[in-house]
Amino acid sequence: MKRIVVLNGPNLNLLGSREVSVYGSTTLKDIENSLRDLADTNGVELDFWQSNHEGQIIDWLHDSNSEETIGVIINPGAFTHYSYAIRDAVAAIRPPVIEVHISNVHARESFRHHSVIAPVCEGQILGLGVKGYKLAFQSFFL
Ligand code: DQA
Repeated sequence: MKRIVVLNGPNLNLLGSREVSVYGSTTLKDIENSLRDLADTNGVELDFWQSNHEGQIIDWLHDSNSEETIGVIINPGAFTHYSYAIRDAVAAIRPPVIEVHISNVHARESFRHHSVIAPVCEGQILGLGVKGYKLAFQSFFL
């Protein structure tokens, strides 16, 4: 069965209670549930994971490098801005990877304006809140 992999980086386990004015009150479980509905509708399998550890995210990217995977969605959290190791893992795998950010990072602190990962992604969706995950998911079927 075809599958889509969704990877979430550090602190995203706290969505819903973390800086609600920036990230909103939707929890990571809510996001997962909405993507599970989309996966069922589209007849694909969903792997949805979160880790606060860089190496774990890299291992999951490597695991995503299979024939069945039609796309990967990644919100690398703060790793976005400095993890060359995650960038290299994204560059190393075959499935298209879309980077998602809930907040508009360009309207925030300057250290958030740069992504070291975006140049090796197929695309980036940011600033649209948690809708960004659904939009990224749907893009694999357009
Ligand atoms: C984030 C933006 C990052 O700068 C931040 O470190 C996060 C969340 C977002 O989804 O808006 O943890 O990736």
